[in-house]
Amino acid sequence: MTDPLLRWREYAARAVLLDGFHALKHALRFGAEVPVAVTTDRRAALALAEELAGDVRQTLEGLLVEVPEQAYAALVARPHPTGVAALAVRPSREANLEVLARTPRTAPVVVLDNPRNLGNAGAVIRLAAGFGATGVVTTGTLDPWHPTVVRGGAGLHFATAVERLGVDELPPGPLFALDPEGEDIRGTELPDDAVLAFGSERTGLSADVRARAGHLLRLPMRPQVSSYNLATSVAMTLYHWSATAGAPAA
Ligand SMILES: C[S@@+](CC[C@H](N)C(=O)[O-])C[C@H]1O[C@@H](n2cnc3c(N)ncnc32)[C@H](O)[C@@H]1O
Repeated sequence: MTDPLLRWREYAARAVLLDGFHALKHALRFGAEVPVAVTTDRRAALALAEELAGDVRQTLEGLLVEVPEQAYAALVARPHPTGVAALAVRPSREANLEVLARTPRTAPVVVLDNPRNLGNAGAVIRLAAGFGATGVVTTGTLDPWHPTVVRGGAGLHFATAVERLGVDELPPGPLFALDPEGEDIRGTELPDDAVLAFGSERTGLSADVRARAGHLLRLPMRPQVSSYNLATSVAMTLYHWSATAGAPAA
C-alpha cells in the first residue's frame, strides 16, 4: 500500500479535509470518494464504527491507516478528539449544477444570499442534508467549500449539491425570500420546487434577490426581536416545508 502520508500530499491541494470520524462517516455514507484516511488509533476508530456506523464499517476497515500522533497533527489545523482525518474528492461543479438545474424537483434549494459566517454556512448545509434539500447555493464571496464550512457541515457537503452562484444564475423554481417584513409563513405552503432565499447576517437580503423574489415570507417573531440567526431561520423554514408539503425520508 502507498505510504498514506505521501498519498495525503498528493491529494491535499485539490481535496476536501474531513476532520474527525463523524465527517468521514457521513461523507462515505453519501458516496464521497475518499482516497486517504488516517487515524492515531485504528482500533478505537473501528470500535467507533462498530458502534455508530455499521453501514460503512467495512469501508473504514479497508481505508483507515494508523499514523503516529505527530504525523497526524501535522495534517490538521487542530487535532480532532477522534484522531481521524481524511481527504475526499470534491464533487464536480458540473455535476452539482446539473442537480441544481434539474426539474421537476422533489425538495427545495436553499440560497444563502451573501452569507458572512462560515459556521452558519456549515450549519445550513447540515440542515439541508438532514431535510433532504436538493442543494445549498451561496451568492457573494464566501466559499461554501471553505474548510471551516466543511467542518461545520460534518461531512454532509456530499449529501446535497453545494455551489456558489451569481444571483442571475439561481436554479429554476419559485423564489421565496425570507424576511421579517414579509407575510406570515404559516399561511403559505412551500412547494417542493421552491427556491428558499435567506439574507446575509449583517445586511439581510440583497436588493437583487428581493427584486427577483415572488414571495416575501416572515417567520413568527415577537415585535421587539429584530431577527433570528441565519441557520435557525433556515431550520424553521425547512421544517415548515416538511410539515406542510414534502418530508425527508425517515
Ligand atoms: C440575521 S438575519 C439578518 C439581519 C439583518 N440585520 C437584517 O437587516 O435583516 C439573517 C437572515 O435570516 C432570515 N430571518 C431572520 N429572522 C427572520 C424572520 N423573523 N423572518 C423571516 N426571515 C428571517 C432572513 O432571511 C435574514 O435576512
